[in-house]
Amino acid sequence: MALYSDTVMDHFLHPRNVGSLSDADAVGEVGNARCGDIMKMYLKIEDGVIADVRFETFGCGSAIASSSMATEMIKGKSIEEALAVTNKEVVEALGGLPAHKLHCSVLAEEAIRSAIRDYFERNGIPYDKSRFPEAEEGSCCRMV
Ligand code: FES
Repeated sequence: MALYSDTVMDHFLHPRNVGSLSDADAVGEVGNARCGDIMKMYLKIEDGVIADVRFETFGCGSAIASSSMATEMIKGKSIEEALAVTNKEVVEALGGLPAHKLHCSVLAEEAIRSAIRDYFERNGIPYDKSRFPEAEEGSCCRMV
């Protein structure tokens, strides 16, 4: 069996929503301290809905595929729906990742959360900080 699913390869070779948004309403950036990979996510939010999204990932193929899939999963979703997206769901949508690559999908979940937290902060929207434990630790580099 191939190490990577066809879906992973497709999103790695043809990533969706690559780039930045000059008029982004929120930007999230996370990194993995161990491998040094970095993921940045830009959101355009209109009426509480993710109207547009882009990403820039300096990282491995799994991280690129995970970011690409994550952007597809949150586009058109409400902020709450986007916040509910987990790395496990990203992995499932990708048709799986090898065990030693699961942490790459965590970057995608954290990039979404980091961007939404930035949106709350920029707009003075009160939010439950306990929902952003990775930010509370003062670390952008959680490993699993
Ligand atoms: Fe760093 Fe995949 S090896 S995110």
